[in-house]
Amino acid sequence: MPQQSILVVDDEAKMRRLLEIMLTQMDYEILQAADGMEALEQLTSHAVDLVITDLRMPRLDGIGLLRQLREQHNDIPVIVVTAYGTVESAVDAMKYGASDYIVRPFEMDAVQAAVQRALKLGKVQRENRYLRQEMEQGWRGFIGSSSAMKQIYTQIEQVAPTKTGVLIQGETGTGKELVARAIHNASPRAQSLFVSINCAAIPADILESELFGYSKGAFTGANKERIGKFELADGGTLFLDEITEMDFNIQAKLLRVLQERTLERLGSNRTIAVDVRVIAASNRNPRQAILDQKLREDLFYRLNVFTIALPPLRDRLDDILPLARYFLEKHAKEFAFQFNGIEDDAAQCLNAYAWPGNVRELENMMERAIVLSGGKTISIGHLSSDILEDEVQVGKHVTNNIADSAHEPLSGRLGLNIQVEQLEKRLIQDALQKTGDNKSKAAQLLEISERSLWYKIKKYM
Ligand SMILES: Nc1ncnc2c1ncn2[C@@H]1O[C@H](COP(=O)(O)OP(=O)(O)OP(=O)(O)O)[C@@H](O)[C@H]1O
Ligand SMILES: [Mg+2]
Repeated sequence: MPQQSILVVDDEAKMRRLLEIMLTQMDYEILQAADGMEALEQLTSHAVDLVITDLRMPRLDGIGLLRQLREQHNDIPVIVVTAYGTVESAVDAMKYGASDYIVRPFEMDAVQAAVQRALKLGKVQRENRYLRQEMEQGWRGFIGSSSAMKQIYTQIEQVAPTKTGVLIQGETGTGKELVARAIHNASPRAQSLFVSINCAAIPADILESELFGYSKGAFTGANKERIGKFELADGGTLFLDEITEMDFNIQAKLLRVLQERTLERLGSNRTIAVDVRVIAASNRNPRQAILDQKLREDLFYRLNVFTIALPPLRDRLDDILPLARYFLEKHAKEFAFQFNGIEDDAAQCLNAYAWPGNVRELENMMERAIVLSGGKTISIGHLSSDILEDEVQVGKHVTNNIADSAHEPLSGRLGLNIQVEQLEKRLIQDALQKTGDNKSKAAQLLEISERSLWYKIKKYM
């Protein structure tokens, strides 16, 4: 460990010297300053681990020094020195952020113990600050520190330095592409290209020429030579999104390229060597895709050297609110709104929802919420009706017209019972209106018995 340095601040040279003798014995480097001003100067030019300061000094005294440090958000630990009988002033100093005090005349043991304690505290604070920053910025652009995601980060770090194929599996919007990019960026290939192609979005014949390129005259319209994504990704990474949507014949050709590490452009005999790492993604279960004849088994084994299974958002509850806050802050910045936090019941809603569209759905909903909130605290009314519907589970099978009215924001508090009652009441009113108050028809429309409709009308209206 490098030698730790301590700045001793006192207007009396004799006292500085005394502390220096006591502390150099313990192998600390000692810097000195005669008052607060000098101390601040020293701190700008030296890396200091701890400050020991007298309280009464000309120009800038001990309290002044503490205030300045806090203003600069400098959380270096500070020990104040106080004379016997004036401990109150030291306690005062602690209110301004001093971490401890030592009393004069000094006792060697007490000084050394206080210094060790303060240095340890400083280290813990630094580590906490680092962790906080890391949490805020996220690991390689990821937000979420659930144990499930921590495992994913470890897997990315394990596989990144290698050349092996990777298969990423996860529901839509779980972050498959983000993982693929993170693997590329953490790999020795990071300086070369990450090339992405979505196999589901491109018709088979075009996909083939997109992947492997073509020579002039290879087919009608091929009036120029063109390199494919494989060659483009040479030295880097090729990301094949939705691999199970790739045509079976192209899958066979892909396998050959992966095995031989060479390819020919369409319409050409020239063999070109390529050094490409392939990462594939699918939102299907690959083994099921093999059974369904959507994925070639031989290609699967080639790609599946390493599998990363991204858990759906509903299985990592701890990540929902950090992600929500992250997206709210991100979009608030974009629209120049303030982000002022999330109300408790809205947060409960976010946690309770099943998020079929996973992180992407959450991001979209938060973008909308920040716009609707106009910079106020995010409340239930700013969330999408999908969340409320999911919670309430009423009226899904009633006619569309009626269900539409359920999309209007429900007023008041979130209590599930209150919400259900309000929604039921509204649906019943709509049904009665639609059927000209014919209770028997309204009950049919609502798919409940006449008897329970009668009961509900009595209860609500
Ligand atoms: N853990 C995360 N932290 C921050 N942003 C995330 C995280 N996971 C996903 N995202 C963001 O959510 C969006 C969807 O992620 P991505 O496109 O990687 O999902 P996907 O699994 O490829 O989805 P699809 O199957 O629909 O293609 C992106 O904008 C991505 O940046
Ligand atoms: Mg994707």
